[in-house]
Amino acid sequence: LVTSGPTHEPIDAVRYIANHSSGKQGHAIAAALAREGATVTLISGPVDEPPPRGVAVVSVRTAREMEAASLAALPSDIAVCAAAVGDFSMANESSQKIKKPDDGSAPTLALKQNPDILATICQHQVRPRLVIGFAAETQNVVDYAMAKRLRKGADWMLANDVGKTDSPVFGSDHNMVHLITEMGNEAWPEASKQEIADHLVDRIAKELNR
Ligand code: C5P
Repeated sequence: LVTSGPTHEPIDAVRYIANHSSGKQGHAIAAALAREGATVTLISGPVDEPPPRGVAVVSVRTAREMEAASLAALPSDIAVCAAAVGDFSMANESSQKIKKPDDGSAPTLALKQNPDILATICQHQVRPRLVIGFAAETQNVVDYAMAKRLRKGADWMLANDVGKTDSPVFGSDHNMVHLITEMGNEAWPEASKQEIADHLVDRIAKELNR
């Protein structure tokens, strides 16, 4: 099971809160797993990426829909949570468009926390053998990602620095990641998202064959 892309949380009938994600890395991983013969369910938020060949795609919008589809895809040997899931959704979504007040005031939006899909999968009764999360950080990339691996209960984390202004990660075809496992941290050379996906799938295959 692979989650990919952003989630869209509706504020009212026409507006929404979204996270930034092209879905390129998650889709590339789903495609690479399928090429290696895995049966893949890709649970994706709204993206422009074409559906990868040989992959069953479940299209979702909100974090709750992504959580439900992810849990429905269990049991699974591997879970790769590459989606940029929004941490918050509206506490009181309006079915009508919220009108702009004439007095110049702005509404206060009350938010509630979304479920953490990665942490939920890690604690699930039928936990996949290998659960891999992503950590997009703008500083202290490795330290934060190591802490996140432990906090969420993931086996591996792929950490990437999204704060670099000279080589933006979002929407780009390239990525520079660290793989964080219980053994420590490996810095991978900068590569295309496709190459990173292939490399990750090699590592997954080795791990499952151990
Ligand atoms: O906490 P943070 O959003 O930085 O964690 C990133 C990792 O957690 C990613 O693997 C992402 O797919 C996953 N995540 C999730 N559900 C959330 C938030 C993050 O699965 N609500």
